[in-house]
Amino acid sequence: MLTKVRTATLSGIEGYPVTVETDLHSGLPGFHIVGLADTTIKEASKRIKPAIQNCGGTFPGEKVTVNLVPAGRPKEGSHFDLPIALGIIMLGSEVIELEDTAFIGEVSLDGTINGVRGALPLAICLRQAGIRNLVLPLENAAEVSILEDINLLPVAHLRDAAEYVLGIRKLPLYIRKEIERENEESGVDFAQVVGQESVKRAILVGAAGNHGILMMGSPGCGKTMMAKRIPGILPELTYEEKVEITGIYSVAGLLSPEHPIVNQRPFRSPHHNITQTGLIGGGVRPRPGELSLAHRGVLFLDELGEFDARVIDAMRQPVEEGIIRINRNLEEVIFPSKVMMVIAANPCKCGNLWDSRKICTCSAHQLEGYRRKLMGPFADRVDIHIKVNPVEKDNLMQYGETQLTKWMSTAEMREIVCRTRALQAERYRGEAFCCNGQLDEKGIRNYCSLGRESKELMMASYERLGLSMRGYSKILRMARTIADLSESDRIETEHVAEALMYRIDLETK
Ligand SMILES: Nc1ncnc2c1ncn2[C@@H]1O[C@H](COP(=O)(O)OP(=O)(O)O)[C@@H](O)[C@H]1O
Ligand SMILES: [Mg+2]
Repeated sequence: MLTKVRTATLSGIEGYPVTVETDLHSGLPGFHIVGLADTTIKEASKRIKPAIQNCGGTFPGEKVTVNLVPAGRPKEGSHFDLPIALGIIMLGSEVIELEDTAFIGEVSLDGTINGVRGALPLAICLRQAGIRNLVLPLENAAEVSILEDINLLPVAHLRDAAEYVLGIRKLPLYIRKEIERENEESGVDFAQVVGQESVKRAILVGAAGNHGILMMGSPGCGKTMMAKRIPGILPELTYEEKVEITGIYSVAGLLSPEHPIVNQRPFRSPHHNITQTGLIGGGVRPRPGELSLAHRGVLFLDELGEFDARVIDAMRQPVEEGIIRINRNLEEVIFPSKVMMVIAANPCKCGNLWDSRKICTCSAHQLEGYRRKLMGPFADRVDIHIKVNPVEKDNLMQYGETQLTKWMSTAEMREIVCRTRALQAERYRGEAFCCNGQLDEKGIRNYCSLGRESKELMMASYERLGLSMRGYSKILRMARTIADLSESDRIETEHVAEALMYRIDLETK
């Protein structure tokens, strides 16, 4: 006697279909789960027996063996409770046709079905494997409802699911609600930022071409304030992006009944005492870190100088490659990390170095150490470096005034960013990259050629600024974006000159 129930397991943010086979043998009573099950699944045996009994069912008095197929792939997660329980309940009974139905859910001792992590990626892989109906915890239905071509049958209790597979009752179909838009009116707008036009311009360049940005300046001049406004000027998420990001939050266990779907570009601002695992991801059962939670949005590192040097260093490769690889015992887990990197830092440890009204208390040794930590290889990979000065006195007068029309607003900036991104998408159709910030060597050769005058300017700066080859290609990418912002096919000298401003050593500026 053998039953088969379909479900799936997670590897990073990807799901893989799994079949739960349950068999009954004569012999001493026992309950064994095989097929590379992790501890959570092994513990299922302790939960499932009382749960079945508390629903009025009987647990077989013989030897029960559960095999998770394919046996070679590690399985994890409490969502195996429901398929395993149903496999047992179905033993020896007439059941409905379940070929195109899958089950996920955690079961409490009293039979209640609880929500699980990663329901969306599990559903995605099951749908691809031909599953038409998914029986899942009520708690996860809203999140999975972002998928349109799979029937969702939410259950609140093991009894309901059991009666369904035994053909005693039907389960009501989940009615999809419109994915509401919560983008509007976040309350923050670039128009609230007084002055700082050169910084806003740099931010515009960064957002338009997807270049990272490092802002350095005295405390209180608006670095954090501006960083928070950057997601607002990025293009709206596409449907595919919403599915992808919601999947990551689902695996991280960060979705709530109020916000079952991620509708807005992420903005993550981890505290500087974050661990490497918290930032990059990992753990026994790998979870996405801040870098992946910021995928397709903004990762803001406020006060970079305060972060642990090793943590900063660990970000280098993931930020450059756009993915994070985590090796576990038996497999490699991959998390995405395509972020717009935004960094804020004080010019020195005490923060007063650039403020003529205050005295810097740092020793020469401290200054040197701070700079070395800050401007290391990680910061070097961030395209735009810009100095943030205190707001000018004249502009300060307008602080608090209600006329928000004077300063460039979020809406205006977003319009420009969207236009410039569309132009890049059109130009790079069929290429591996879609914006200037991602151009590889070949892309730079093909799309960033310079006229004679611009070349001369570049040559002179190469010497003067002591640029590396990496710095050189960064300038070309930025110059391409700046040319695109003024809708110029050719990269002119003025575009190169502006790009050069974003690579000047902040110390000497
Ligand atoms: N340019 C500005 N326009 C309007 N308000 C500003 C500006 N700069 C700073 N502020 C105000 O000062 C506060 C502190 O700024 P903040 O962004 O935290 O500075 P920083 O991060 O550079 O230390 C902000 O919350 C804001 O109220
Ligand atoms: Mg700040």
